[in-house]
Amino acid sequence: DALTVGVDIGGTKILGGVVDADGAILAEHRVESPATDERAIEQAVCDLVRQLTRDHEVAGVGVGAAGYVDKSRSNVMFAPNIAWRDVTLRQDLESELGLPVVIENDANVAAWGEFRFGAGHDVDDLLLVTVGTGVGGGLVLDGELYRGAFGVGAEIGHMRVVPGGQLCGCGNYGCFEQYASGSALVREARTAARGGSLLARHVLDRADGDAEAITGPLITEAARDGDPFAVEQLATLGRWLGEGIASLTAVLDPAVAVIGGGVSEAGDLLLEPARQAFLGQLTGRGHRPALEIRKARLGNRAGLIGAADLARR
Ligand code: BGC
Ligand code: NA
Ligand code: ZN
Repeated sequence: DALTVGVDIGGTKILGGVVDADGAILAEHRVESPATDERAIEQAVCDLVRQLTRDHEVAGVGVGAAGYVDKSRSNVMFAPNIAWRDVTLRQDLESELGLPVVIENDANVAAWGEFRFGAGHDVDDLLLVTVGTGVGGGLVLDGELYRGAFGVGAEIGHMRVVPGGQLCGCGNYGCFEQYASGSALVREARTAARGGSLLARHVLDRADGDAEAITGPLITEAARDGDPFAVEQLATLGRWLGEGIASLTAVLDPAVAVIGGGVSEAGDLLLEPARQAFLGQLTGRGHRPALEIRKARLGNRAGLIGAADLARR
């Protein structure tokens, strides 16, 4: 069975790997992401793929990107949190690399990875929620990756959950990702710390008194050490997630919701409040089977593994 390369383009890093048909990673490489310059990102992806294919012959490349990918899996039409607009990513990469390339949304490839080889391997219907800079959604329905009529289905981060709420990178106000992302977690903690909240002082101490130095991992670490403010911040985020998943369940009725992305490293500090909020909000609760909320199993490799598998199909 042929090997393929999977690449996950994130906001801070680009992760790539050579993957076999069982989802095992044979070689892996990571580079810093050149942030906003699309040409530089394409170059970095090409360099990374060339490095990976030096010792392995591969049949194709799958790429996960944090934006709206068109139905033909070629172009990134729009991205709320990166400066990409109408990028002909597939064409650019294919002509540089001389290999077949497929582009897919970053959360979609992670959903596919978890469905094939991870936390959703035992079900046919799965919702994946990635919690990081933004909130991504990926849907596997009846064993197939759901893409929508135009390729941009499952953009759950941009459901409006608060009329007139926080301004989102997409230009709308009150989107889900403004409340349920890692960025939201950090924004709220920094605001509390800057405002001199006594509750936030342990978290602020950990950041050496600099509110801007508060990060998601720092909050998670503080919560693990039992700091009540950090625990509550993660619980608030978890409740947003749980309620969002309950609304999505009203429409989709998946068997499991898998929570991935950097913040999912917080584990039950995030997932338990999400489960409680989900059960408290699910329509018809008590009279219907309730889905399971699980932590992603492939961690930050779900995307590259899923992208590589899609490149094989
Ligand atoms: C974007 C999605 C992406 C998600 C996670 C959202 O803001 O709209 O396309 O999957 O962030 O990166
Ligand atoms: Na998606
Ligand atoms: Zn939005």
